[in-house]
Formats: sequence, structure tokens, C-alpha cells
Amino acid sequence: MSAAKIVVVGSCMTDLISYTSRLPKPGETIHGHRFSVGFGGKGANQCIAATRLGATTAMVAMVGDDSFGTNYLQNFRDNGVIISHVGVTSEAATGVAPIAVDDAGENCIIIVAGANLKMTAANVEKAEPLIKESCVVVCQGEITMEATLAALTMARKYNVKTLMNAAPADSSLDPAILKNSDIFCVNESEAEALTEVRVQTVMDAQRAAEVLLTRGCGSVIVTLGGEGALYSTGDGHIHVPAEKVTPVDTTGAGDAFVGTLAYYLAYHPHLSMEDMLQRSCKVATISVQAAGTQTSFPTRNKLDNYLFV
Ligand SMILES: Nc1ncnc2c1ncn2[C@@H]1O[C@H](COP(=O)(O)OP(=O)(O)OP(=O)(O)O)[C@@H](O)[C@H]1O
Ligand SMILES: *[C@@H]1O[C@H](CO)[C@@H](O)[C@H](O)[C@H]1NC(C)=O
Repeated sequence: MSAAKIVVVGSCMTDLISYTSRLPKPGETIHGHRFSVGFGGKGANQCIAATRLGATTAMVAMVGDDSFGTNYLQNFRDNGVIISHVGVTSEAATGVAPIAVDDAGENCIIIVAGANLKMTAANVEKAEPLIKESCVVVCQGEITMEATLAALTMARKYNVKTLMNAAPADSSLDPAILKNSDIFCVNESEAEALTEVRVQTVMDAQRAAEVLLTRGCGSVIVTLGGEGALYSTGDGHIHVPAEKVTPVDTTGAGDAFVGTLAYYLAYHPHLSMEDMLQRSCKVATISVQAAGTQTSFPTRNKLDNYLFV
């Protein structure tokens, strides 16, 4: 097997989605009319998004010793992700997210991160041979900061590019995580939570990005939903607009964006950042026009050729 160019050190979660006419009240039992299971977790989603574009990827993660874990490993195999460093723990269940969605589209979500939080820095260090040979290491905020920091510092040791997606937002983020991020990527609410700058416009996003840059990351990306994305460095800001579309399901849009960016960083490193961002927005915008999370990430053969030259 060829070495993975992209290593994602992050989470796996199984979404358990119940569709009901209304959300239950405390103590109440109600009947739903549909149920579905989906593969999620920001780490795994980003890994799958990159793999669909043709990247050789590896996941460093932890699942529980249960049927959700077994199924998740199979999902990685089905998608062609290298899973030599996905551990199985008996100390906690595979991460799950039971979700209730009512007829108005309102939802309630309980995330039980479980096995994801059992991954230690020592587990990550075992992936050194994998990280060393890669071009990009991608992390998110759904595992412990200790494990994330171990991944970023190991990547730095080997001059591997680090892409940190600080999602979900955590205002107590370890400052060393920012210092070890070549690209630090957040959405509007995460930018706001980390900087206390209110982010509603592109100008606001620029101000938040400037605050994050002073904390020591190499560059900042703020994704702006239907408004595209902002890229900021010490040299200034570039705003890349998204195409105007009617979204069907925006869950996982951020993950499609980050996974696609990792693909370009690894496979087309000579493109300008502006070009990479435009292409990442393009793929993320396609993903919002299909239902589901991983199910909405396009494969290379469904995309225009110009995205791959
Ligand atoms: N309504 C939309 N129309 C077009 N493109 C979109 C839309 N929403 C999202 N996108 C694309 O997806 C990217 C990421 O979206 P967003 O900033 O909403 O991330 P996010 O909040 O992490 O997403 P989510 O939490 O829904 O997964 C955007 O930069 C854009 O390219
Ligand atoms: C940003 O991402 C978080 C998940 O990390 C999500 O809960 C939130 O709604 C997103 N914010 C926006 C403005 O899309």
C-alpha cells in the first residue's frame, strides 16, 4: 500500500437520527416515523471528503469495542482509508450522536464522544511512521487537546503541513495548538467564540482573523457559509465568494471544505491559496446540494476536470 499523503487525527461518530413530528418534552415518550444511521465525526468526515477526491489518506482515531466501531472500520475500508492506526478501546463506547429532527427541521442532538476521548498523545505518537511520510496532517476539536497537540507537533517535527479546524469552538483552546497550525480554520461562530469579535460580515471576519494571527498561527481561514471563505495572513486578506445555490442540506459543508483543502495542499501544492480556496468552496457548495454528510461528498468522477489540473 502506498504511503498516505494526508493523515487525519480526529473523531469518528455514528449519527443516530430519529425523525419525529415534534421533539419530546422531558419525561415524555413519543413515536418517530423514520430512523437512519449515518457516519459522522468531523475527523472521519474530512478524511472521507479528501479520499473521495482521490487522495491516499490514513485515519488516526479510536473507536469502541462494539458494533458501531466495527461498522465504522468497515466504512473506512469501503472508502479506501488506511486504518492501521485506528485503535479499538474497551474503555468507552464508539462516539455517537443521537439526533431528533422534527417536521419543521428543528433538531436536538446529544453527542457522546466516548472512545474519541480515550485517544492519548501516546496513541498518536505510535502513528509517527505514518505522519512522517505524509504531506498534510489535519486535526479538529473533537478529540482531546493533548492528542491534537501531539499530532501537530509531530507533523511540525517532519515539516509536514498542519491544518487545524478548531471545530467545535472551545474558548479554552491550548495556545500551543494555534502556534503549531500552519492553517487555522474556523467558521463564523467559532471565530467569534475564540476572539470575542462579533462576526457577521467579511470585515468582521477579517478583524477576527487578525486577532487569531497575533496568537501565532501561520494563516487563518474563516468559512462564511453561503458567503464563501476568507483567507488571512500577515500580508492581508483574500475573500473567495461561494456560488449562489439553493442548499438541500448543509451538514458537513465545513468538513467537505477542509477535506478538499487538505487534498489540494497534498496533491496540488503549487496552486495559489486563492485557487485552492476557490476549488474547496466549489466542492463544499456541491456537497450542500445533496442530503446527508459523507453521502453528500462528491467523488472525483462526478466533478469537472478543471478541478484536477
Ligand atoms: N448556502 C451555501 N451556499 C453555497 N456554499 C455554501 C453554503 N453553505 C456552505 N457552503 C460552502 O461550505 C463552506 C463551509 O460552510 P460553513 O462556513 O457553513 O461551514 P460550517 O459552519 O463548518 O458548516 P457545517 O457546520 O454546516 O458543516 C463554505 O465556505 C462554502 O464554500
Ligand atoms: C460552526 O460550526 C459549529 C460546529 O462546530 C456549528 O455548531 C455552528 O452552527 C457553525 N456556525 C455557523 C455560523 O455555521
